[in-house]
Amino acid sequence: MQITRFERGLADRVAIVTGAAIGNGRAFCERLAEEGARIVIADVADASETEAAVRAIGADVLVRHTDCTDGDDVRGLVADTVARFGRVDILVHNVGHYSEEPFELLSFAEWKRTLDLTLNSLFHAIQAVLPPMKRQGFGRIITFSSDTVWLGTPYLTHYITAKMGVIGLTRSLAAEVGKDGITINTITVGLTATQRPAGDPVSDSLLRHILPQQAVHRADEPEDIANVVAFLALPASGIITGQTINVDGGVARH
Ligand SMILES: NC(=O)c1ccc[n+]([C@@H]2O[C@H](COP(=O)([O-])OP(=O)(O)OC[C@H]3O[C@@H](n4cnc5c(N)ncnc54)[C@H](O)[C@@H]3O)[C@@H](O)[C@H]2O)c1
Repeated sequence: MQITRFERGLADRVAIVTGAAIGNGRAFCERLAEEGARIVIADVADASETEAAVRAIGADVLVRHTDCTDGDDVRGLVADTVARFGRVDILVHNVGHYSEEPFELLSFAEWKRTLDLTLNSLFHAIQAVLPPMKRQGFGRIITFSSDTVWLGTPYLTHYITAKMGVIGLTRSLAAEVGKDGITINTITVGLTATQRPAGDPVSDSLLRHILPQQAVHRADEPEDIANVVAFLALPASGIITGQTINVDGGVARH
């Protein structure tokens, strides 16, 4: 696939990418590294493959084992990033938890786990990066929602509740931090052909079901989302904030 490049538009910027061991997060690390950014990989899982991919591009990289649901650990991540690179320019908060369950069968534990991983983790990450971003007078925060918030997909009450929360936080916070040179935008991601963890419910048959509903009849690739991430991270994108950008092949059209 032909990808538009921005000629190393992020040279020497420092980007933290959460949930970057696999899937979309890995693609974001590679794309930002291609633009010249230094990359901090934050994940609970082994991220050595992402690390190797970023190094192969020639970017400086820090791998920091981080549980994004733990506020102290996330504050440590940001402290370690500043200690190593002196700044934090970009937060790409990719961590999220997806499961399908009819609401009446949904356990409170799964409801809470979804909110913790998908929404509460964002609270920790953004609160931790705002002080250095304000000191710099520059920041780009990119959050992830889902096109299911527009589609109202069944069996996702917990997930869609959390992903609507991501949009709310993004819109309100944009109005608070714009004066500090910080933008925050969210991407409503469609079904993406990522490398899935074992047991993940997103299957080939689900992809086959979704594809005919798309205006563009091919699966979203992680690189499609990564292009938008790189664009939003650019200094030149500083006038775009508080926005929700839908990237799903045109399933949701509004
Ligand atoms: N893939 C899709 O089809 C799709 C569709 C819509 C929205 N999204 C959203 O995009 C984002 C990424 O999706 P994905 O499919 O690449 O995710 P994924 O499930 O493939 O990867 C998630 C990553 O997060 C890591 N992680 C899990 N718990 C963590 C924790 N407590 N702390 C730190 N890291 C943790 C995992 O180890 C993994 O590397 C999510 O927010 C998801 O909701 C994805």
